[in-house]
Amino acid sequence: MAEQNDDILVLDKLGKTFRVGFWGKKVQAVRDVSLTLKRGESLGYLGPNGSGKTTSIKCILSLIQPTSGEIRLFGADPSDAAARARVGYLPEAPYFYDYLKPTEVLDYVGKLYGLDAATRKKRIPMLLDRLGLGHAMDRELRGFSKGMLQRVGIAQSLLSDPDLLIYDEPLSGLDPIGRKEVRELMAELRSEGKSLFFSSHVLTDIETLCDAVCILDRGAVVAQGRLADLLRMDKLESEALIELPADNADAAKALLTGLPGVEVREQVGAVLRLRLPTDVVPGLTAAVVEARATLRELSQRRESLEELFVQKAVHMSSDGQRATTPGGPA
Ligand SMILES: Nc1ncnc2c1ncn2[C@@H]1O[C@H](COP(=O)(O)OP(=O)(O)OP(=O)(O)O)[C@@H](O)[C@H]1O
Ligand SMILES: [Mg+2]
Repeated sequence: MAEQNDDILVLDKLGKTFRVGFWGKKVQAVRDVSLTLKRGESLGYLGPNGSGKTTSIKCILSLIQPTSGEIRLFGADPSDAAARARVGYLPEAPYFYDYLKPTEVLDYVGKLYGLDAATRKKRIPMLLDRLGLGHAMDRELRGFSKGMLQRVGIAQSLLSDPDLLIYDEPLSGLDPIGRKEVRELMAELRSEGKSLFFSSHVLTDIETLCDAVCILDRGAVVAQGRLADLLRMDKLESEALIELPADNADAAKALLTGLPGVEVREQVGAVLRLRLPTDVVPGLTAAVVEARATLRELSQRRESLEELFVQKAVHMSSDGQRATTPGGPA
């Protein structure tokens, strides 16, 4: 069934509860997650370890059944074969049989996708070349680095030329160069019009990649929306480095810090680092002149995704257990 509109993936109050151990204790891995991914968009699904990312992805791929809520994949149920055929999936830790070669892995996957021999023969070397594995096409995977294996995983996810790519932690375990390469590749795929849904806990890595983010903590959404909105681009703050005059330091400081919304972040000798709302900057510059101080530096600052993530989701105590988030989901 074709999608009715541009909604490629819709989760409506998705929930998944596992029962574990002898007593069947409930683990609520995913709680009421709702989101929409539109055609051509890229969505970062973020959260610390154990927050429910992989569980959600498994539900989307119909590998496990949700306990509650609904999923629409290309307007259909996720178990719909035609909808599934339009998805390329990269699992969290792709595992391949050591003694196979990339060409053999891809040939096998291609057969599973129902690609005919001629298409496989044409597409497989082309994809491996594109992923920088042309030279290793006929080498056994046991000699491959983590980055190379990840690229084999990405190649297999692209074999059927899918519209939607679902990647679970595509950058994890890669060195900085590998991360950059995979990130660039994902950006390229996105510019080709593919929709991306990928999970991560390496936030700075994905900041440039996604249009929207959904941040999870203990299975529940704690923040979601357009990245620019979440990062409060409209409420920019500024930072000023100001040197107070030696003969008038106290009065100058009182004048500057008396402005609305000004906060002292640090003081080293006569140098003050202030944080202030951007609309107070004109008032600050006037006060600097009046106080005979020197403005050494003025910069705009915005909340980074890392800060947002920590603020919204991650509260780890020293033993690695998550502490209670005040006001967070129970
Ligand atoms: N098959 C399962 N049986 C019981 N509990 C499970 C099962 N799969 C996941 N869980 C639990 O569900 C919660 C979410 O796990 P999930 O793997 O979805 O998290 P994640 O966000 O992908 O974490 P990570 O960043 O470590 O990959 C965890 O508490 C986990 O222990
Ligand atoms: Mg996971």
